[in-house]
Amino acid sequence: MADPTAWWRDAVIYQVYPRSFADSDGDGIGDLGGIRAHLQHLAGLGVDAIWMSPWYPSPMADAGYDVADFRDIDPVFGTLAEAEALIRDAHAAGIRMIVDIVPNHISSAHAWFQKALADPDAPERELFWFRPGRGPEGDQLPTDWVGEFGGSTWTRTPDGAWYLHLFTPQQPDLNWDHPAVRAEFEDILRFWFDRGVDGIRIDSAALLFKDRDLPAVVEGRPHPFHDLDEVHDVYRAWRRVADEYPDRALIGEVWMPEVERFANYLRPDELHAAFNFDFLGCAWDATLMRECVDRTLDAHRTVGAPATWVLSNHDVTRHVTRYGRGTTTFSFENNLDGTPVDLELGTRRARAAALLSLSLPGATYLYQGEELGLWENENIPVERMQDPMYARRGHSRDGCRVPLPWSGDEPPFGFSATEPWLPQPAEWKDRTVQAQTGDRNSMLELYRSAIGLRRGESGLHTPDFAWLGDDAGVLSYRRGLDFACVLNMSPEAVALPDRHTVQLASSPLDGGRLPPDTAVWLRIPRT
Ligand code: NOJ
Repeated sequence: MADPTAWWRDAVIYQVYPRSFADSDGDGIGDLGGIRAHLQHLAGLGVDAIWMSPWYPSPMADAGYDVADFRDIDPVFGTLAEAEALIRDAHAAGIRMIVDIVPNHISSAHAWFQKALADPDAPERELFWFRPGRGPEGDQLPTDWVGEFGGSTWTRTPDGAWYLHLFTPQQPDLNWDHPAVRAEFEDILRFWFDRGVDGIRIDSAALLFKDRDLPAVVEGRPHPFHDLDEVHDVYRAWRRVADEYPDRALIGEVWMPEVERFANYLRPDELHAAFNFDFLGCAWDATLMRECVDRTLDAHRTVGAPATWVLSNHDVTRHVTRYGRGTTTFSFENNLDGTPVDLELGTRRARAAALLSLSLPGATYLYQGEELGLWENENIPVERMQDPMYARRGHSRDGCRVPLPWSGDEPPFGFSATEPWLPQPAEWKDRTVQAQTGDRNSMLELYRSAIGLRRGESGLHTPDFAWLGDDAGVLSYRRGLDFACVLNMSPEAVALPDRHTVQLASSPLDGGRLPPDTAVWLRIPRT
């Protein structure tokens, strides 16, 4: 059984998207120098760890999720020596480091794929999924599988064979049946653990294996490339590697509607944690939210793993925008769909959601800029869109990847000395770190207070959790001896429990009552 006090069980983990955090060399793209220069922002926010989206050499066909070399840093971000310095700096500031590993695919620029492409007889071909095409000329796709970004999953090489890519053609899928692939990734884990990295975020963690018969995707039949059982052997082996080092964590990106299948990844000899996409996609609705919390806690309890609470990341609509729309669930189809957004309402709900996600049992993940209350930039001109999902599927993730506003009254808001790689809304002048610092009503100060209180609140560092009451439209729960959170998702103000003291409120109370779309943290004596 894993240590119940292990750091990853109740950490606040901040996702840094390096292209958009801070630019130190004036090319309009964020880099390691920028992150090192702003580490105090993260220390002051009180986060326990940083998860760094990919920083490796990459042609950037998918913003770095197309990795050409897992043991180095892309020159646009800096050098390996700077990454090592950043790990040291972060540790000195009391912040752990998690790096992103992408095992399902690599970049087509990776040495393995280049060798495989150059010679049909090269042994490297076996490391990928090269297959003949269908039809007498072999010119038809080997399968009709639809890729994760839409479109076909096969690209033909000049010698006539096809190779599989569940994402873009620049991201060939690896063949995880091959022992060299397994050995390589175990070595990559050790490479980063040896450099002091505290955890690994595992990209597309459920996709690695494919049915070798390449069957069609048919409803009701086992899926040919989602969640094949063999994947668990890999994570058991990774867990053995992680366990060779003290206090290291493996965190999976597992999109999985079936909670039992999801929980399999979190068995005691597999991953330590996985992102909660159920919560991230949940509508602003008390009944659905309560069901989601129960479902999450039940699923994790069965395997003894901590839950995670995630509202945003670099792939999804920022939740200030999502909560300000008529439809508050997440789906890629809602990205840039032109539906009206009430940013004031979205911000109010995002403030309440912060108190929710920071007080449920488990670890909380924050996506950079969430602490500033940033919204999705839905006005990026088409010619500046960079996300390959836009070209293949018509939905862009660029709107949540816009560079952070640090200071000043106009773009680039201290992010860079030049124009940033994606445009920032001029209205972000009120949402810079500088503008919000010291403003008691700002999102940033709310996050600082909440994370600070969370740290000292012993009840929030145990699995202890119980619902208090079941009023329609209201979520109310107790943690530990005398901590409670009440979130009003109904359209009317509601009364608060007797004999409480308010510790923190997401919006001002209404004569002692809790207004709509507001959450409070209370101290409440146990009766
Ligand atoms: C999930 C990552 O979060 C996303 O950004 C990426 O495009 C895909 N995996 C492919 O690596």
